[in-house]
Amino acid sequence: MFMEIIAIVVSYLLGSISFSILFARWLRKIDIRDHGSGNAGATNTLRVLGKGPAICVFLLDIAKGSAGVLIGMWLGDGNAWIPVACGLAAIGGHNWPIYFRFKGGKGIATTVGALIIWAFLPTLIAGIVAILVIAVTRYVSLGSMILGVLLPILFYLFHLDSAYVWGAVVVAILAIVRHRKNIVKLANGTENKLGGSKKGEP
Ligand code: G3P
Repeated sequence: MFMEIIAIVVSYLLGSISFSILFARWLRKIDIRDHGSGNAGATNTLRVLGKGPAICVFLLDIAKGSAGVLIGMWLGDGNAWIPVACGLAAIGGHNWPIYFRFKGGKGIATTVGALIIWAFLPTLIAGIVAILVIAVTRYVSLGSMILGVLLPILFYLFHLDSAYVWGAVVVAILAIVRHRKNIVKLANGTENKLGGSKKGEP
């Protein structure tokens, strides 16, 4: 059990590396959480720092989710609950990072990175649907929440091990809870659109 606990803790510590906060510090000497929507994630990096840094943050946030799950698979000895716990720990680290006063992002890129390793095809399908929703509506938050909710449904329909289905249920709940301010803004028409004017405040 010792190695499994190490894997989960390492995943959380990896997830806690908030690349949007680091890039904003390095490039502009600002705290990204004081700018744009106030979220420490790739979407807000796009708003505040531009395309190049946003793509880097997005890919690195995906990579840390995948790395956590791979560590869990390596040290988990075939027990599916360990990569599931490691994926959730990486997402938890992104959302509540130990290095940055526990104020992080919404965990969507890290979710994609983790779940693409849990189960490639259903995660890919959910990702494609999310991209289509974002392309049509220009609301990243809406696409992110649809991605989150689709994941457990697709995992269930694909008859995956119950560890992964329950893991995806937790992912969906986290995605909705972390987007609660976006839900209010979507409802009252003040949510930021991709490439649109900046209405969001921290
Ligand atoms: O993944 C985050 C995205 O869904 C919303 O980000 O900055 O618009 O609140 P933001």
